[in-house]
Amino acid sequence: MSLKRNILDLRKRKSEVLKGGGEKAIEKQVAMGKLTARERILYILDEGSFHEYDLFVEHAARDFDMENKKLHGDGVIIGTGTMHGSPICIFAQDFTVAGGSLGLMHARKITKIMDHALKMRVPLIGINDSGGARIQEGVDSLAGYGEIFFRNTLASGVIPQISVILGPCAGGAVYSPALTDFVFVVNNISKMFITGPSVIKTVLGEEISMEELGGAKVHAEITGNAHFYAESELECFDQIKKLMSYIPWNNKQKADKVEPKLPKKKKKIENIVPGDPKMPYDIRDIIQAITDHSEFFEIMELFAPNIVIGFGRLNGETVGFVANQPKVLAGVLDCDSSDKAARFIRYCNAFDIPIVTLEDLPGYLPGVDQEHAGVIRHGAKILYAYSEATVPKITVIIRKAYGGGYIAMNSRHLRADFVFAWPTAEIAVMGPEGAANIVFRKEISEAEDPEAMRQIKIEEYKTKFANPYVAAARGYIDEVIEPEDTRKMLLHALQISANKSVMGPGKKHGIPPF
Ligand code: HXC
Repeated sequence: MSLKRNILDLRKRKSEVLKGGGEKAIEKQVAMGKLTARERILYILDEGSFHEYDLFVEHAARDFDMENKKLHGDGVIIGTGTMHGSPICIFAQDFTVAGGSLGLMHARKITKIMDHALKMRVPLIGINDSGGARIQEGVDSLAGYGEIFFRNTLASGVIPQISVILGPCAGGAVYSPALTDFVFVVNNISKMFITGPSVIKTVLGEEISMEELGGAKVHAEITGNAHFYAESELECFDQIKKLMSYIPWNNKQKADKVEPKLPKKKKKIENIVPGDPKMPYDIRDIIQAITDHSEFFEIMELFAPNIVIGFGRLNGETVGFVANQPKVLAGVLDCDSSDKAARFIRYCNAFDIPIVTLEDLPGYLPGVDQEHAGVIRHGAKILYAYSEATVPKITVIIRKAYGGGYIAMNSRHLRADFVFAWPTAEIAVMGPEGAANIVFRKEISEAEDPEAMRQIKIEEYKTKFANPYVAAARGYIDEVIEPEDTRKMLLHALQISANKSVMGPGKKHGIPPF
């Protein structure tokens, strides 16, 4: 065969495989509002940068008449490319080929690109659109998932691992994403469950739709399995690119520094917080009054909104923000908000991203529901995460810092590097009303006018304790600052902390509360 004929033969073979599951299956995919697996990769990566590998891999199934079936690429596309000009490893499951189900060779393709990503210290993006373990391949499929889970765990904290759920994902196809750092979902397209509605009906007799069981909103709002929610695939890809602009490519690199910009001047920072400590406000207004160009990229916006987490930049460098949200449940810590914050703190710590904590909370949420849901062990996660973190940690106490909340939100005692407080800060065991009722119970009940006495005692307590100066007198906070100086103080604290070095006691790993 001449070279020309060889090349033509190669092109023919390639074009055959590029048909994926065939016209009909692709039509079905498009009718559901979904892009094809290859289109998704091309949208996510820099234009013209994608290189595909293992195009000619064939499946290894021999039972159920599978030996005569062609599954192009065995239902998954793998390759490398760039994003923002930097290298990326990527895979995308192709639902048009046997429902993107995972057999032995499909898994080998994924683990090949995962091995590359870890060896080269390059982020891994996985686009999941799969019915899970390929039933016809039995234990080989299960082995394949085991190999993927092992690699997800090995790579955790070394390279960023991003999961995009773009179809009905069942079984192993959701456990791997759960082991990764960030999960993206799209309305009407993403579904995640361990077992689908038909299994639930068979086993439990319960009827539920795929959407109600594990749709995008369910995972973004209720379960906390998804970190980012979008209305369309293209919006989702923009979110991925934005996230990647904030984070480092591996745990030995810093995130790209961008040109520093001043916050946009919208509102004076001190006018955002109402004078009455019982009045809510949106903590995101404070974050945006501080960050470069007033930009804040929020993570898990819809889940446990009583705490706000996300990335912003200070002087061009990425910073992780953890902030109580007085607008929702007065910003209390509960099971979900503790989980949400703790995992983000651990992410920032693993990838060397400084953490800024903005504090305004009345404490942990009391109640039977919370106690029985395990608020002790969930709440302990945030204590553990802050204590364990060795990146620069700076706290600004804006208003309330009561009880366990004061300790948990990166207090000096958990080794904050800098703690600043606004003059409006109230640092005490509990709020004035509650404290006065307990401490002065006798005086109040025996007074001629108990209500007048209660008010006197509340004022007395406020003057004595509900301020930043008792903590300042002990050195628990470093400085009481004017709100307008918050950004300036943070910039300086970050500059001073740039080469922070902390040696731990030396251990294999700790055992965080679960
Ligand atoms: C083999 C599969 C498959 C699977 C789908 N297909 N899932 N083939 N193994 N797991 C095939 C279908 O037979 C069909 O092939 C094609 O993919 C499209 O599937 P449909 O059912 O037509 O699509 P849809 O109606 O959209 O439903 C999607 C679905 C459903 C919800 C994902 O297919 C489903 O419930 N699949 C099974 C899910 C599951 O239980 N997986 C095993 C999980 S256990 P044809 O040829 O007709 O087009 C697991 C173990 C690991 O993953 C656990 C680790 C902890």
